Amino acid sequence: MTLPDELIRDDSTADTAPWWRQAVVYQIYPRSFADASGDGIGDIPGILSRADYLGSLGIDAVWLSPFYPSALADGGYDVADYRDVDPRLGTLDDFDAMVTALHERGLKVVVDIVPNHTSNLHAWFQEALAAGRGSAARDRYIFREGSGPDGAEPPTDWTAAFGGSAWERVEDGQWYLHSFAIEQPDLNWANPEVRADFVKTLRFWSDRGVDGFRIDVAHMLTKDLTEPLPSAAELADMPVDGSHPLLDRDDVHGVYAEWREVFDSYDPPRTAVAEAWVASDRVPLYASPTSLGQSFNFDLLVADFDAAQFRDIVTRNIALAARSGSSSTWVLSNHDVFRHATRYGLPVPPEDSAVPKRHGGGWLEAGADQGVLDRAAGERRARAATLFVLGLPGSAYLYQGEELGLHEVAEIPADQRQDPTFFRTHQEQFGRDGARVPLPWTASGPSFGFGDDGAHLPQPAWFAEYAVSVEDGDPDSTLSLYRRALALRHELQTAEDLEWIETGRADVLHFRRPNGWEVVTNFGTEPFALDAGEVLVSSGRSGSAGAVPGETTVWLSGH
Ligand code: NOJ
Repeated sequence: MTLPDELIRDDSTADTAPWWRQAVVYQIYPRSFADASGDGIGDIPGILSRADYLGSLGIDAVWLSPFYPSALADGGYDVADYRDVDPRLGTLDDFDAMVTALHERGLKVVVDIVPNHTSNLHAWFQEALAAGRGSAARDRYIFREGSGPDGAEPPTDWTAAFGGSAWERVEDGQWYLHSFAIEQPDLNWANPEVRADFVKTLRFWSDRGVDGFRIDVAHMLTKDLTEPLPSAAELADMPVDGSHPLLDRDDVHGVYAEWREVFDSYDPPRTAVAEAWVASDRVPLYASPTSLGQSFNFDLLVADFDAAQFRDIVTRNIALAARSGSSSTWVLSNHDVFRHATRYGLPVPPEDSAVPKRHGGGWLEAGADQGVLDRAAGERRARAATLFVLGLPGSAYLYQGEELGLHEVAEIPADQRQDPTFFRTHQEQFGRDGARVPLPWTASGPSFGFGDDGAHLPQPAWFAEYAVSVEDGDPDSTLSLYRRALALRHELQTAEDLEWIETGRADVLHFRRPNGWEVVTNFGTEPFALDAGEVLVSSGRSGSAGAVPGETTVWLSGH
């Protein structure tokens, strides 16, 4: 298709702005992407072997979830060595070869930094255990005496994010803090050695050509642990306004100011995006150019497929990003949530329902009949939501497999589940394994082409329909839609503005970008009549002249 001249990159700022401002970043969960060694676990050579696929998508960057040595107590977010590759995933040479291959295809590389906690197998933690109370080695972590007459009770009643106490006792009777799994002891960010070591890690990967970093739980590093420690109830009553003892403290930006100097010492400057679960008005602090520069906006992960919710989220987040001079970010799926095709295919539980909403997943966990999931509707809405998001100003973060329209895998037997959430909630919550099942590359063969043997999480038979080999070349497939949209997005990209056009319908959103690129999403079921404009791409499989069908997004060349 030939695009009208006025639509082709009209605005010089879109070409000269830093690459990350409107990038499409594709998240790879390395252990589940492609397995070159045939041991059932995805690896770096696997990613290298799929470099052409990545290059064919039309993305700008790849973000790799942790690939570091790890005992996998939390899917790799329990890091035993920040400056190496897990031997099951390859070597540093493999990593370098992968970076080169991705760079050759014009793709940037972003890696995950996990600074709140290490693995309990990290050399520092092993040293802390051996060195005993009061040692310098223990001061790199958060050790305390227990409460109760003989210190046999944890220091406080705080709970960990995956359930259970946030404290674990060690042999000599002291307790250490772990905000997440037991195997993830929290670091002490008041310790200068801890600070210096992360600077070393950032330089290590920057020197190897990495272009940016995703910072895990960026709002949790610094803590005020002055005695007496507050109870969980007292903590819950404290405002999270920069002064809370554990969350979103103002002093965390002192850490990031130091990191900023590291990022800016490279040419081009290395980038960072914060995973910060904080109140909206605190987001700009993380997205500021003196801190991490950009922050995830997760609002769409908890929104229904609903016009009013989407419009509100877009308006609010564009304004928030403007406050720090950053660009907004859009995320529909990642490795921590139920895939959006499934979320949108499940009924929204009524307010008084016994089924917890939990991003839609409550239905599956409640053991609801699989029939409760409307796969086709979920995919239709997911395609419409994706095309809406890809038209927005700012950067979009995609999660591996969403380009295939993949659904969450609910049918994983209990004895094959891996996520600590499942075990620490006494199997009440499935957790995140269903979004981390290895990708189907072919419709048949061992592990659907993921590797030569099995897959570390079981793949259901229906994965065959979603295989890359099946979708490749099928013009109606979700993969083809992503490729078409991403190619067009490159052509159309313009300044980071958006103007809403009123539609007269509460279930239809319409916006225009500065060069006349328009996006219309019909969240309802009744077709929406279009009065003009050429349709450049549609999320719908069947066209309907002069109208946007229900649950469909179209991009228009404008009036
Ligand atoms: C956020 C990561 O996305 C998640 O997967 C991980 O479990 C926690 N941080 C702890 O590192």
